[in-house]
Amino acid sequence: MNKLEQLRQEAVEKITEVKNLNGLNDLRVLYLGKKGPVQELMKAMKDLPKEEKPAFGQKVNELKKELSQFIEERKEALAKLEMEAKIEKEKIDITLPGRVPELGTMHPLNLVRQELEDLFIGLGYQVIEGDDIVDDLYCFERANIPKDHPARDMQDSLYINPERLLRTHTTAIQMVVLEQSAPDKAIKVVCPGKVYRRDDDDATHSHQFMQMEGLVIGEHVTLADLKGTLEFAAKKLFGDERKVRFRPSFFPFTEPSVEVDVSCHICGGKGCPTCKGTGWIEVLGAGEVHPNVLKMAGYDPEKWNGFAFGIGIERMAMLKYGIDDIRHFYTNDKRFTSTFKRFE
Ligand code: DAH
Repeated sequence: MNKLEQLRQEAVEKITEVKNLNGLNDLRVLYLGKKGPVQELMKAMKDLPKEEKPAFGQKVNELKKELSQFIEERKEALAKLEMEAKIEKEKIDITLPGRVPELGTMHPLNLVRQELEDLFIGLGYQVIEGDDIVDDLYCFERANIPKDHPARDMQDSLYINPERLLRTHTTAIQMVVLEQSAPDKAIKVVCPGKVYRRDDDDATHSHQFMQMEGLVIGEHVTLADLKGTLEFAAKKLFGDERKVRFRPSFFPFTEPSVEVDVSCHICGGKGCPTCKGTGWIEVLGAGEVHPNVLKMAGYDPEKWNGFAFGIGIERMAMLKYGIDDIRHFYTNDKRFTSTFKRFE
């Protein structure tokens, strides 16, 4: 009986002190398991005098029951504590700002291209893209650029074979659109895309760059329409105070041909380094579509006429965002491209 009482005290003490469920389980096995002391006491009963057996048996059973119950209570309490500790440890602070995944940004050239597209779509133009590799026929022949013209020089153009080349200007798309629309459809399109030339890259030249061709064909399209259109575009892009001026020029596919200047958006026309002191910035080439071009595509130049223009996208972007080196567009430095996020 003494031993039993001693065992009871020892077990209760240990079970009270145990700090976790694993330890509690060990104690359960230790005291109540098959080889444990309680079981030992049960076995020892056989050596007792007969009359003592029932009372002792009852005591051992009571002890077994008491310890089991106590272990259950402790188990619940420890489980609760462990859960609380786990919750505390894994606590998520939902007020912390999340990690923002890094998103890409629009490339400045695409920003300008999109702005131009939106502008011309607003004026009723369609956007048409062509192939980068084109027939010499559309790049030069149909553009009224004769066989011996320097623009065709192998030095300037990137030929795939004698008949096919990487387009040197988006005017090649213009010629395809003309052929597809002839002989009697009016046209109002802009054709953006990459163009390629054999050029040594420097601050203002790139062997690959972007243009946007414009083409309007109708029965009464005048140079005044061209001027009005470009004036509208210049104001939209560079501000309401912009003025546009035409200077006579030459392109084989237009007659008359003009080069178009916009009054400087930096100095407002007074003269500054951006406009090299002239107050004007050259932005594009344009003109009335040459009768030969119309004829070759299948239009009757007596009845149909129109205008065309070619915009350099890099030049527009450089002017608009004050970029001083064309190579920035193509070196894919994230510090450069991410600057344009605020314009999106
Ligand atoms: N194709 C010319 C170039 O690459 C740009 C150009 C000038 C296009 C006048 C035109 C135009 O449509 O009318 O330099």
